[in-house]
Amino acid sequence: MKKILVINGPNLNLLGTREKGIYGTETLQDIAQKVIAEAERLNVDVDFIQSNHEGEIIDKIHDARGKFDVIIINPGAYTHYSIAILDAIKAVEIPAIELHLSNIHAREEFRSKSVIAPACVGQICGFGGHGYILALNAAAAL
Ligand code: DQA
Repeated sequence: MKKILVINGPNLNLLGTREKGIYGTETLQDIAQKVIAEAERLNVDVDFIQSNHEGEIIDKIHDARGKFDVIIINPGAYTHYSIAILDAIKAVEIPAIELHLSNIHAREEFRSKSVIAPACVGQICGFGGHGYILALNAAAAL
């Protein structure tokens, strides 16, 4: 069975209360439940994690080697400046899908630049929590 790791970066634990106009009212737990249900439907195995710490995210990416077939990552603000996460994704050579709830290209200019994107198969953004379902389907189809 295909194994997919979903990594959520900083501040995503606050979904549901955080800037609701941008990120909606669904909590990360609500999203996790939907992702797990969709994984069952797609017959894939999924792990869903969140961390506010760059080093911990990097450790999780390293640990994924040999265990996961695809990584889906919403790196939060690290998207825009973490060369270390970019390098970690490149190093493990696991196909990765970049994911954002909001359309990062339609917000402040600094958000339109993703330093992670060159290491990823593709990017999904702007579909809110449903983006996780789209990313899971893309991961299952890879
Ligand atoms: C985000 C977009 C980032 O710019 C922001 O820093 C986040 C969330 C998104 O899911 O839309 O924390 O990754």
